[in-house]
Amino acid sequence: MNIILLGPPGAGKGTQAAYLVDGRGMVQLSTGDMLRAAVAAGTPVGLQAKAIMAAGELVSDAIVTGILSERLDQDDVRRGFILDGYPRTPAQAAALEALLAEKGMHLDYVIVLAVDEEALVDRISGRFSCAKCGAGYHDRYKLPVRAGVCDVCGSTEFKRRPDDNAETVRTRLAEYRAKTAPILPFYEAKGLVRTVDGMAPIEDVKREIAAILDS
Ligand code: AP5
Repeated sequence: MNIILLGPPGAGKGTQAAYLVDGRGMVQLSTGDMLRAAVAAGTPVGLQAKAIMAAGELVSDAIVTGILSERLDQDDVRRGFILDGYPRTPAQAAALEALLAEKGMHLDYVIVLAVDEEALVDRISGRFSCAKCGAGYHDRYKLPVRAGVCDVCGSTEFKRRPDDNAETVRTRLAEYRAKTAPILPFYEAKGLVRTVDGMAPIEDVKREIAAILDS
């Protein structure tokens, strides 16, 4: 099964993708993670993307589609994938159609996480992750079971993203409204869209998504 998780920054795409990876063996394809890895490695793509991401703007369609296309050529994606953060513009949605056709793949669902924008700044500013394994947490909504110790790998080091500040989040939300939300009608016309209440507790969102995938 291949799906897109769609929603604004902080909607819970990464949180829910992690459950689908653990529970169903699906592969998470997060263009944000791919770009952050390129920035950390100092590759040419990373050097181009760094300032754009720090400002909360979108990296060019050509760059992002290029890295996604390479990732789709790896064998593990045949287990089923979750697109997290892609497509993000009408041009990316069109490019994805072409890539999937070329690679003999298809989409089963586009799952939209519906959220109130006012809650997102709070969610994003409280987010942190394990510096070693990347497991995601939140200051109030998802704390490690043992304070200061990662539930997954036991590390005691955590980090926060440089673009998780109030000003950048506002730009990211504006980018979502202007450039990403307009792709929804394209997928609605294909009958692929299922909407879940992204404001519900994390476990409830997880159950709603599972019900869709099992239907
Ligand atoms: P990206 O990494 O994709 O970030 P994003 O879309 O802004 O999404 P986030 O990772 O911030 O949010 P999320 O929905 O995954 O939320 P999470 O689950 O962590 O993109 C970053 C940048 O890269 C972009 O700005 C752009 O520059 C560039 N980029 C990436 N892809 C691109 C593309 N295709 N084209 C162009 N540029 C691209 O949840 C947030 C917090 O809330 C967590 O702490 C979590 O614990 C908590 N939480 C989650 N769900 C709930 C819940 N139901 N209740 C309470 N708390 C919850």
